[in-house]
Amino acid sequence: MASLTKDLTAAASAAFEALGFEARWGDVRRSDKPEFADFQCNGAMGAAKSAGKNPREVAGDVAATLKAYPFVLSAEVAGPGFINIRVSDEALAERAINVLTSELAGGEPAADPKVTVIDFGGPNVAKPMHVGHLRSAVIGDTLVRLLRFLGDHVTGDTHLGDWGLQMGHLVTELYDEQPDLIYFDASYEGPYPEEPPVTIEDLARMYPAASAKAKEDPARLERSQKAVAELQAGRPGYRALLKHFIDVSVAALKVDYEFLNVHFDLWKGESDVDHLIPGLIEKFKAADLAREDDGAWIVDIAREGENVPVEKDGKVNLKNPMPPIMLVNSRGGTGYHTTDLATIEDRMENLEPTPELMLYVVDQRQALHFTQVFRAAEKLGLIDEGHLEHIGFGTVNGPDGKPFKTREGGMLRLADLNAMALEEAQRKITEAGKLPDDMPEDERLDVAKKVALAALRFSDLQNTRTGNYVFDLDRFTSFEGKTGPYLLYAAVRVKSLLRRAQEEGLEQGEIVIGHDAERALVLQLDGFALALLQAREKRMPHILCEHVYNLAQAFSAFYAAVPIASETDPALRASRLSLSAAVLNQLEAGLGILGIKIPERM
Ligand code: ARG
Repeated sequence: MASLTKDLTAAASAAFEALGFEARWGDVRRSDKPEFADFQCNGAMGAAKSAGKNPREVAGDVAATLKAYPFVLSAEVAGPGFINIRVSDEALAERAINVLTSELAGGEPAADPKVTVIDFGGPNVAKPMHVGHLRSAVIGDTLVRLLRFLGDHVTGDTHLGDWGLQMGHLVTELYDEQPDLIYFDASYEGPYPEEPPVTIEDLARMYPAASAKAKEDPARLERSQKAVAELQAGRPGYRALLKHFIDVSVAALKVDYEFLNVHFDLWKGESDVDHLIPGLIEKFKAADLAREDDGAWIVDIAREGENVPVEKDGKVNLKNPMPPIMLVNSRGGTGYHTTDLATIEDRMENLEPTPELMLYVVDQRQALHFTQVFRAAEKLGLIDEGHLEHIGFGTVNGPDGKPFKTREGGMLRLADLNAMALEEAQRKITEAGKLPDDMPEDERLDVAKKVALAALRFSDLQNTRTGNYVFDLDRFTSFEGKTGPYLLYAAVRVKSLLRRAQEEGLEQGEIVIGHDAERALVLQLDGFALALLQAREKRMPHILCEHVYNLAQAFSAFYAAVPIASETDPALRASRLSLSAAVLNQLEAGLGILGIKIPERM
């Protein structure tokens, strides 16, 4: 059995079709009035209207067909033509057993699994990550887990920013500090020594220093630009330095990502596709897609209705501007567009199996960049149209509604954010007196880390991806409300209940549905499959967050309404313990996709 929602939709759609209507009228969803129905179908009104028929009559015909299904207990027409549906206790029990025993905890694999690359994280070498990197990391990692859960073949790639001006800044700044390093020797050819000449602290200090100097002093900027050009042209000493910078940065990045339970399959970067760039440029030229402009090579990507000149007050402005891409600048240097294009080519040629889809989980403010890159890639035929998607997201804001800044006005470092979350989690745990007194220190720390993780990930993911949200650590780490820690608490409660029952020798057994609270709980469990598929289709993790939160709430209601381990009828007790185990199975699956780890006890 798929899900009840899906089976009912299939049954109702078939019923509409048999009556000569379109199948889409058969959409069935959870009823918003559980006292009257489990599910409802509202299609009869629309269908009847489209054919000039009586809606109650159409609804009656569909209801009659539905009633013939053994899993349908009743199907009744209400009001102008709603169909209220109740499903049988047996069907609910069967669903619960599926949630308990199936690998997907009641979820259903995607009907159209795809070979997908998810490009997320996007950190830059030598620049410490800041709060702005949180969203890409957490949303991207969750999409990786979600798609994989549903059967897609997913490769997660960091796409390190390691090819820009910042590399020139680092090389020149290092030269100013340590001019005797062999890497600066013009005759240096390798080898690449093990020992890096810098630490992550050096990098974090050198980049902003050089960048600030370059802003003041054009000659300093010029030196950095020259250094990048030489690096890009392949100067061995600079390439060796780049490799060192990348290694040192990646080691530090992994610490921050580990805290957030964010993982990548590939740690590739812009510099990895450098060798493809000359060939790529030739392809653009050969296809007559690039034109020379003042020594630079550019690709026009505007379409009908874009870049339309409009004259106003003697000035000409462009309506719907769509700037061209600069493939190579007049110095022969290449930038962000070109490396992204070469990366698409690299993935299509070298990844196995060949990707069918690439998702870019990057700040909404880069939307124009991706429109440009995607159009150019499609024009050149690197990938078929519609297989590149920008998964944009909003910003993390401060209380003033502007992108979050520290009190000093700077960007909050991701490492500091993680540390703050851990500290706040420890405070909340102590305040709430949540942990048993005899819990050893290392386990306490482990629980606090899991609480911090749940707080950060859930508070980010539960927002509509495209919206902004206000950063509020106090609220995020609270055990009350719609928060990650609340969900952990709920999951641990089910775990403890089951553990205690097992210790007392109470057995689980056949699931039988009778009580309203049981019915409501299974109906909630049934929604998992749809929530997962919708979250995948829309690339919107908040849909799954919503489901998991509602499931935790439904379990609370069930827990309050009926005795579970203390039920005296052994068969009923065994059934309720199994039902609780089904809830735990789905909570663990759902939270696992959200990248949240559940402690054993709390
Ligand atoms: N490093 C880039 C930045 O900091 C983000 C990279 C996003 N991914 C990509 N393929 N362009 O803005």
